[in-house]
Formats: sequence, structure tokens, C-alpha cells
Amino acid sequence: MKILILGHKGMLGSELMLRLAIAHEVTGKDIDAFDITDPADCLRIVEECAPEAVVNATGYTNVDGCEADAERCFAVNAEGVKHLALACRGKGILVVHFSTDYVFDGKKGTPYREEDPTGPLSVYGASKLAGEQFLQAFAERYLLVRTAWLYGKNGHHFVEAILKKAKEGQGLEVVDDQIGSPTYTRDLAAALELLIAGGHTGLFHVTNRGRCSWYEFAVKILQYAGIGDVTVTPIKSDRLSRPAARPAWSVLDGGKFFAACGKTLPYWQIALQDYLERTGSRR
Ligand SMILES: NC(=O)c1ccc[n+]([C@@H]2O[C@H](COP(=O)([O-])OP(=O)(O)OC[C@H]3O[C@@H](n4cnc5c(N)ncnc54)[C@H](OP(=O)(O)O)[C@@H]3O)[C@@H](O)[C@H]2O)c1
Repeated sequence: MKILILGHKGMLGSELMLRLAIAHEVTGKDIDAFDITDPADCLRIVEECAPEAVVNATGYTNVDGCEADAERCFAVNAEGVKHLALACRGKGILVVHFSTDYVFDGKKGTPYREEDPTGPLSVYGASKLAGEQFLQAFAERYLLVRTAWLYGKNGHHFVEAILKKAKEGQGLEVVDDQIGSPTYTRDLAAALELLIAGGHTGLFHVTNRGRCSWYEFAVKILQYAGIGDVTVTPIKSDRLSRPAARPAWSVLDGGKFFAACGKTLPYWQIALQDYLERTGSRR
């Protein structure tokens, strides 16, 4: 397939470039080549590339930053998806897009299924939900993947933040009252390849298996990296007074993905070891 990957220099986009290039002809575009908030730009890049699928890995992903900049956040995460879907209309192009566990309020207590009611707590979550709705309303053919707690080779994320602080010898305080599923972009990219290869469309939840709190995640990062001399203290979210509220429990049910592709992603602990190994941080 001829695939256009948008946001290809970002954390997920760069991994998608590597993975999808194995079996497909891929082209990448990022903010230096187009602006997803500009409908004319979206039409131009789609017409220039004439792909069979467009994978949108752009995003305004600073969750706390979105609270103070709702206009830009909605322009990128919501309106941008509409412009892209409209640019692809009438051309038979599959539009692939990523959303988040933050579209849920975290009160369900069992893993969220694709059809569960949404209820975002933050501007970021609301903008991502609006993007989902634009995609569903305007794309002729779409694949919408909700995922969570991403980390990967090319990005600023929790794993590297924890390693950096630990190497500086700082003690860590990490919240233990938010539960989710850390997900390695490399595994997510492989899952997306399976969905595309199987010709699947619609909404899917895809994360690494298992669940933990950010505190448990931090403890495992240090353990697998062989850093034993740093204390990690569990704290409650209200101690941090962050601008954006996060769901307390946002585990996604991967049953629909398993039914479609016959596979589950690795447990998050295995994925984390794999990431640390590949980035040279595993002891
Ligand atoms: N990170 C997570 O934990 C997570 C969880 C669930 C879902 N997601 C979703 O997964 C997708 C990818 O996330 P990510 O963490 O890989 O994001 P990322 O690393 O921030 O990459 C996003 C890319 O999009 C570019 N971009 C931003 N605004 C743009 C615009 N107006 N036009 C064109 N390109 C633009 C960014 O450029 P700049 O860097 O120059 O801004 C960057 O290269 C997003 O849709 C996100 O909402 C992420």
C-alpha cells in the first residue's frame, strides 16, 4: 500500500515509519511541511502523495498545556481531523487516527470497551473525543485506535523522565492513584500493521497487556534499569495540583483487537524490558 504518515517525526509517527515501511511504500510529513489546522494544506499533501491510506500521528499532546490553550488544542486534535477526513473524501483513502483513554472519566472500574460511554475530564480529552466524532462523521473509511500512556524511542515521556531524575540522584514522588496500561510505541505500530493488513476498519482499543499505577511503573523502570539507590515515594494526584484532571482508572479492553487479529500485545513489563534493552538502559 501507499501510505502517508502525518506527524512522522513524533514519538509514535517515527515508529510507524519504521514498521509500516517493511511492507508498504511510506511517505512522512510533519509540521515543517504542512499544518493540519489548515484545510488547504491537508488537501495539498493528500493530492501530492495520492496515498491509499493516511495515518494521522499528529497531535497537540501536552495534556496540561491544553488547559491554557484550548483553542490551539481543538484546532489540532479536533478540527484538524475534520480537515484531513474531508481532504480524503471521494478518493477511497483509508484514514487512520489515534485517540486516547483520556476520553473516559475513569469511574467504570472494569476495562473500557469501545462502545462504553465517554466523559473526558480535561480539555485534551475533550479535543480528542471531538476529533473522533469528526472522523466518524466525515471519513468514508476509517480506523480509529484508542491507546494510552505511550513511550518510545523518539519522544519526551515518563520512562525517560524517571531515568533522568534517578540518574541525577533525585528522590522521586509518583502518583499511585491513576491506573492504566503503559504502551510501547513499537508494539502499537506492530498492532496497527496487523489491523491494516487484515483490512479492519472502525474503532479499536490497543494497549500493552496488564495494568499498573504510575508509581508501580516507576518502580519497575528503576528495577529493570538496575538503579537501586533511588527512593520512590507513592503520593496522591492532588499533591501535584496539575492543571488537567486525569482519569483514575482508564484500562482499555483489548478484546475486540484480539477477536480481529488473533493476537494480544505483550504485557507492559515485557514491553518495558524490551524498550530499555533497545535503548541501552537495561541492566
Ligand atoms: N503520548 C501518549 O501517551 C498518547 C496516548 C494516547 C494517544 N496519543 C495520541 O497519539 C498521537 C501521537 O502522539 P505522540 O505522543 O507520538 O505525539 P508527538 O510525539 O507530540 O508527535 C506529534 C507530531 O505532530 C506534530 N504536529 C503538532 N501539531 C501539528 C500541526 N498543526 N500540523 C502538523 N503536525 C503537527 C508535532 O510537531 P511538534 O513536535 O513540532 O509539535 C509532532 O511531530 C496523538 O494523536 C496523540 O493524541 C498519545
